[in-house]
Amino acid sequence: MIRFICTKDYDDMSRKAANIIGSLIVSKPNCVLGLATGSTPIGAYARLVEGYENGDLDFSAVKSVNLDEYRGLTHDNDQSYYYFMNHHLFSKVNIDKNNTYVPDGTIADAEEACKQYDEIVASMGGVDLQLLGMGHNGHIGFNEPNDVFVKGTNCVNLAQSTIDANARFFEKKEDVPTQAYTMGIQTIMNAKKILVVVNGEGKADIVEKAFFGDVTPQVPASILQFHPDVIVVGDEAAFSKIKNRL
Ligand code: GLP
Repeated sequence: MIRFICTKDYDDMSRKAANIIGSLIVSKPNCVLGLATGSTPIGAYARLVEGYENGDLDFSAVKSVNLDEYRGLTHDNDQSYYYFMNHHLFSKVNIDKNNTYVPDGTIADAEEACKQYDEIVASMGGVDLQLLGMGHNGHIGFNEPNDVFVKGTNCVNLAQSTIDANARFFEKKEDVPTQAYTMGIQTIMNAKKILVVVNGEGKADIVEKAFFGDVTPQVPASILQFHPDVIVVGDEAAFSKIKNRL
């Protein structure tokens, strides 16, 4: 079941998403969070940091598993998702770094990297809440449009549109990674609750397709229609094509 929360703007979306995550941390201090990168969740992470700073949120027992990582990027590369998570959240709250996991992009052997990450996710005993952004083509994590829904952690060749979209973050075109390790669709669907954040007019078409169109691996996020507990928090612009159906 999908519930939609329409918010005024990016700040409103970020605050509401952070409130949902924060209320879980309060009610279950040792919860397992599935975390996401991309520009969309940055505001929600900032609100969570505020929650920690003002004494409302204690991350000391929280565990986290991230969705994805670029293959080949080292931890100190400021475009790696490892770096992103430390920069936006982990270094700013009292989470135990030993309880945070991001797929290791430095493992060259893709099969080994994916196997290791599946074992890590399994050892967490279930994700309580999975935060998700969404690519313009409907990708979640880095599960790109495909002929099938891949179940477990996998190494993906990024879609050209994704490479182009990411190019803005890199100095040179040649530096933009073309592959990534990502949690699989089944792993994402196993989370007890899923929180999707979307903002901006650019996401309006894919929001309509993903949540009101056919369920197909060509639009990976469409699988969320089959999950029992999804909340999509979006701003008015991202919901502009679905507002009459809410
Ligand atoms: C990347 C990430 C996704 C993210 C997507 C959208 O591809 N792997 O997890 O959802 O970007 O990014 P943005 O939030 O910047 O639109």
